[in-house]
Amino acid sequence: MTDSKEYIKKRYAKALEKAQEKNTSCCDSSEPAPKQEESACCSNKPILLPKKQEIVIPSFGSTSDLAKKANLEEGDVVVDFGSGPGHDLLSVAKLVGKKGKAIGIDFTPEMIEHATDLAKKMSLDNVEVKQGDIANVPLEDNIADVVISNCVINLSANKYDVFKEAFRILKLGGRLVDSDIIAAQELPESLRKDKDAWCGCIGGALTQEGYVEAIKKAGFSDITVDIESERTGKINWEGNDYLIHSGIIRATKPE
Ligand SMILES: C[S@@+](CC[C@H](N)C(=O)[O-])C[C@H]1O[C@@H](n2cnc3c(N)ncnc32)[C@H](O)[C@@H]1O
Repeated sequence: MTDSKEYIKKRYAKALEKAQEKNTSCCDSSEPAPKQEESACCSNKPILLPKKQEIVIPSFGSTSDLAKKANLEEGDVVVDFGSGPGHDLLSVAKLVGKKGKAIGIDFTPEMIEHATDLAKKMSLDNVEVKQGDIANVPLEDNIADVVISNCVINLSANKYDVFKEAFRILKLGGRLVDSDIIAAQELPESLRKDKDAWCGCIGGALTQEGYVEAIKKAGFSDITVDIESERTGKINWEGNDYLIHSGIIRATKPE
């Protein structure tokens, strides 16, 4: 799908508004999407973070606890591509501590405002949220220890450009930890072209081989893909079923 960025921004601004009204999370709550019998995308329960303050941060991600799954270390500089409402970003900020930094990149102003406000409320002063496109990241080369992303890269029409940007901003030996929707087979052209399917993180999903190829082409090595079998969904499109999974893709920028 081309020329979709403005549409994606509007849809996610609306989804955030709905999530705040209902205190729930969902990737795509506003428009009809392909029939999904089970969802591989989105965690259903908002997480209270930190518990004492009872702040509810909606999540639109395809996995839960990505910050923990990324094996971060104190002092790490972590960049979150498509940080959204800040669910993972603020967990990262706590894990890397005052010596580290959590930098979010998002192109939807409402998401940036939400995550920035929450960081202030939680007194996390190692958080910075920047407006920008993950295909053209407003950060210098070689500054990050880890780039994470949770259910965002599938929304980009040119995934190679995004992986190339992750590669550029990572230090040598730095890691990419990307949770994404992975299609078990190539999706039909009509589904890929459907705006709602695209915004719902389905239309732009690649197969495992497609992701690995784009990541390799961007220069990464040690690429692994873990399919989260408990997060599998079935899409019914034009009478046919298509399987999608949530997967965690890890890769390293060679030393
Ligand atoms: C499905 S939500 C995921 C948000 C967050 N990672 C989470 O787990 O809750 C997708 C987010 O990515 C952002 N986004 C999508 N495409 C983007 C792009 N090309 N550049 C920057 N942000 C983008 C959207 O604004 C939205 O906040």
